[in-house]
Amino acid sequence: MRRVEGKNILITGASKGLGRQLALDLAREGAAGISLVARHADLLYKVREEIRDLNPRAKVLALPADLRHSKAVERVAAATLSEFRGRLDVLINNASALGPSPMPYLLDFPLEEFRRVLDTNLIAPFLLAKKLLPAMLEHGGSLINVTSDAGVTGYPGWGAYGISKFGLEGLSQTWASELEGSGIRVNWVDPGNMDTDMHRAAEPDGDPSQWADPAAVTEVFLYLASDAAAGISGRRFKAQEDWRPQADRPGLIKREV
Ligand SMILES: NC(=O)c1ccc[n+]([C@@H]2O[C@H](COP(=O)([O-])OP(=O)(O)OC[C@H]3O[C@@H](n4cnc5c(N)ncnc54)[C@H](OP(=O)(O)O)[C@@H]3O)[C@@H](O)[C@H]2O)c1
Repeated sequence: MRRVEGKNILITGASKGLGRQLALDLAREGAAGISLVARHADLLYKVREEIRDLNPRAKVLALPADLRHSKAVERVAAATLSEFRGRLDVLINNASALGPSPMPYLLDFPLEEFRRVLDTNLIAPFLLAKKLLPAMLEHGGSLINVTSDAGVTGYPGWGAYGISKFGLEGLSQTWASELEGSGIRVNWVDPGNMDTDMHRAAEPDGDPSQWADPAAVTEVFLYLASDAAAGISGRRFKAQEDWRPQADRPGLIKREV
């Protein structure tokens, strides 16, 4: 039995990097429906073709949209629910904007750029979940938000991006508390350093050979999307550390939902 057999899944930021890899791996694991969202239609259509090779029976929806705009987020939610006949099992808020590169300190951060980063990384995940969770309540499901270590430490220069991830972590915790007992589990994952366009823009002088291939970090997402994670909610995961749940590991909270 494949791990997400029969599930309908929406992934934002699915055109490249981690989002694309998640789409491919979830398709390989038997997803019945995959809704892919990003701005660049050409890249999204390529991912849709790759999925068709891996899982010809999956219903694949490529939805080009700019998630900074709430109307676009609402269109994505409506199109996904319409195509999947009102049933969604997993929502992965992965799309992210970094802001200007090189990354300015807050004193120099242009206001409009600050707003754009928050619109993409915080407001869109809030609105998408708000629009989709009601449909997920009937059968239960999994909400996964993608965070960063910049979401728990205020690194100099990581300004709007880090602040948006602090917000996303708070949003995730609050969803998890408010949805306790509803059948929807909410967790958030720090994938760690990966060799992607975003990381190359963030650290142009860094050494990409030191950064993980996105394919190396998807296991925790497959786990959280699968029924094996039933009852796991309100937790922060680090994809490149030993994240596997152990009932007796100190400091880990297991909440029944
Ligand atoms: N790379 C790392 O080392 C690292 C470390 C920690 C956390 N993360 C997190 O991991 C996640 C994936 O990052 P990544 O490194 O894979 O980034 P990436 O390669 O730059 O991909 C970002 C994705 O988000 C989409 N996107 C950006 N702005 C969008 C918008 N306004 N509307 C719709 N889609 C938008 C992009 O597609 P379009 O450009 O086509 O819209 C792309 O598909 C992010 O949440 C990031 O914060 C990454």
